[in-house]
Amino acid sequence: MADPANLALMPEPRSKGGALYSLAERIARYRERAGDAHPVIGSIAPGPDAVRLFSNDYLGLSGDARINAAKAEALLGTANEVLMSAVYLHDDSNQRRFERRMAAFLGAEDSVLCQSGWCANVGLLQTIADQNTPIFLDLAAHASLWEGAQSAGAPLRPFRHNNVNHLEEQVRRHGPGIVVVDAIYSTAGDLCPIFDLVDFCEREGCALVVDESHSIGTFGARGEGLVSMLGLTKRVAFRTFSLSKAFAGRGGIVAGAADALDFFRFESRPAIFSSAVLAYEIVGFERTLDIIQDEYWRREALQRNADRLRTALHDLGYNVSSSQCQIIPLEAGDETRTGSLRDMLDRRGIFGSVFCMPATLRNRALVRFSVTSALEPHELQRTVAACAEIREAIGLADWPSTKRRARAEEREDKETAQTKLRQALVLRPDFGRNANGPSGGGLERFAE
Ligand SMILES: Cc1ncc(COP(=O)(O)O)c(C=O)c1O
Repeated sequence: MADPANLALMPEPRSKGGALYSLAERIARYRERAGDAHPVIGSIAPGPDAVRLFSNDYLGLSGDARINAAKAEALLGTANEVLMSAVYLHDDSNQRRFERRMAAFLGAEDSVLCQSGWCANVGLLQTIADQNTPIFLDLAAHASLWEGAQSAGAPLRPFRHNNVNHLEEQVRRHGPGIVVVDAIYSTAGDLCPIFDLVDFCEREGCALVVDESHSIGTFGARGEGLVSMLGLTKRVAFRTFSLSKAFAGRGGIVAGAADALDFFRFESRPAIFSSAVLAYEIVGFERTLDIIQDEYWRREALQRNADRLRTALHDLGYNVSSSQCQIIPLEAGDETRTGSLRDMLDRRGIFGSVFCMPATLRNRALVRFSVTSALEPHELQRTVAACAEIREAIGLADWPSTKRRARAEEREDKETAQTKLRQALVLRPDFGRNANGPSGGGLERFAE
């Protein structure tokens, strides 16, 4: 297993063979890697006609007039904003009211509003872990979860991506602890094996933490996320998410057992040493939550757009098989190829985002398309036409991901087909639409 200190967190390794690189050496390595170009953005800025596939505004709510009006009214009516850390908030504050509403929406006992998804993840793991709590992180889990585990001083025990057998080996070796996964992985757009994970954690006495940043708002009849949608709220100890995706703002949420979250408010360093979310932002989130719950058509449009684009790219020969949602990766492999892919797309007015080390493994760099409900059919058509046109020039046939697809198709057996079918059925946005709202009830106590 690779040195955890070099995993997922840093663009460049900090050490080799136990010896630390100096700052000057690290800067020189960065320069060598980047050359004359910026490592992720190209030289062309998106113009007014650009097809924008780089924003995580999945439900097209950024700039929504109703949300802006609510925020503007709150901002104009604010005379003396109280600027302080959330640890000082009283129980009758607007923030606490929003937190209780959010908890009810999620079917959790309580929730905490944080300044970002990053703060939510770091704060949670700082709160619930210590030097004696092994943390089992999926290798593709978001960097903020790694950061939290490290800052808790906890032993990091990574397991192979989405591999519950390897997780089991790790737990057998190191004893039970906290298992940390993303519901949807932000680079490949694949889902964690949630049913297997909850079964495993219960059997082995582990607590499960699920980051729902990419599934909140987009999955479930009222946008309540994957865990609620599947009726698993009582079997997942904590859920976290960023409010900078479907919620189109800046903030983060941790949801879970009320007593643990009371402690979080007093224990997590971002809650104590960084100022709380502002009043007008909370008003904006209240309004956004109304819309997310009520406007089911946005989730339908999102799913329709994502399905169309994914199917068309698949038919063109791209390996988009990992994607089960609105995140669709074009995995060119090394950074040079990925840069060329980005440039060719940019020149055609199609703007995705480059993901490379440290967001991916070194040879798994990609251009990510983030589909939104607001994309028009002609924008999807332009994207598909551009991807068709550049296939030869970018050497699609030679990409490692294309070769993987060919190998997978050869050995595709019944079992894989059935697993996919099961997931496809469960993931329709109308799944659970007729249920009586999100599953309710308290969560199991984690801190016994
Ligand atoms: C899975 C996941 N978790 C956490 C975060 C961090 O969220 P934020 O941008 O609100 O800090 C992100 C955003 O990049 C993310 O994709």
